[in-house]
Amino acid sequence: MSAPNPSAWWLPLASAARFDDAAPLAAEHLGEPVVLWRDGETPVAFADRCPHRGARLSLGCVRERTLECPYHGWRFDAGGLCRLIPALPAFTPPDGHRVAIWQVREAFDLLWVAAEGAPGAEPHAPPSLEQLPPRRVLCGPFDVATSAPRVVENFLDTAHFGLVHEGGLGDRAHLEVPDYEVAHDALGRPGVPHYRAWQPKASAAASKGTWVDYRYQLLSPFSALLEKRAQGAMPHEAYALWSSPTGDESCRAWFTIFVDDGAPDDATLIGFQQRIFAQDKPIVESQRPRRLPLAGGELHSAADRLSGAYRRWLRQLGIEHGCC
Ligand code: FES
Ligand SMILES: [Fe+2]
Repeated sequence: MSAPNPSAWWLPLASAARFDDAAPLAAEHLGEPVVLWRDGETPVAFADRCPHRGARLSLGCVRERTLECPYHGWRFDAGGLCRLIPALPAFTPPDGHRVAIWQVREAFDLLWVAAEGAPGAEPHAPPSLEQLPPRRVLCGPFDVATSAPRVVENFLDTAHFGLVHEGGLGDRAHLEVPDYEVAHDALGRPGVPHYRAWQPKASAAASKGTWVDYRYQLLSPFSALLEKRAQGAMPHEAYALWSSPTGDESCRAWFTIFVDDGAPDDATLIGFQQRIFAQDKPIVESQRPRRLPLAGGELHSAADRLSGAYRRWLRQLGIEHGCC
């Protein structure tokens, strides 16, 4: 399997709720400037460069279902066609007067963007997730000074729980990582179907320590899912990590928390996740090299089986971005 051109990767670039109907939003897809706006309810993404004289369209505004350039007011509809040149109001712009468009899709409360012609299917597209608790809470964005694969690997790593998250996701009395099996799904994505860990406070709702059954699953090269089920009363919960490379050594990440209706309010869930990630962030930003080594240079133990499988999968996909 080979990696599509990076411009064809679907990357989450913004929270869907992050911009209003009148103001476009500037974003970047692996360094390429993109502007996001809404045509009614429908999100639209253009190259953030006016084809007239190169001004940034994200400095303009949305008018009458078009995006208006801030410089000479050319207006582009959702298909990218120029509909109006204010200096020549009687002129009908020809079909070639167009701005370059990107594909955009809304999934998990985020706007995902890929170049025109990008494949719509996994593993490079937003995944479809089923049988998760129905309530979704989006947390982020977090800008992290390391590569996206380092952040994903940290999300998959349980051996740090009792050290980095002592008293929360783990404790020093339970540092051992029980034996676990890595399995690959139909798309070849590695995961761990069953993993068991002791957690003093496994979630925002937990009031005491408990054994937790985990399931890990890679969803795409830069995203992963963790499902938790505790022994006894703790409800089913899931956490998705969505990371988006902003460079080879920097990324932006969000988490979606999937919970049942009876879970604590959004602010409590977000606060818990922010505290957890605030513990991870200085560690992952300290790792050198920032790009995930795929061809040696780091030592592995049997407890690192899942991260080893992740690295091998990235190699099979031909992913070079954020890897060395
Ligand atoms: S640069 Fe956009 S209208 Fe002239
Ligand atoms: Fe962590």
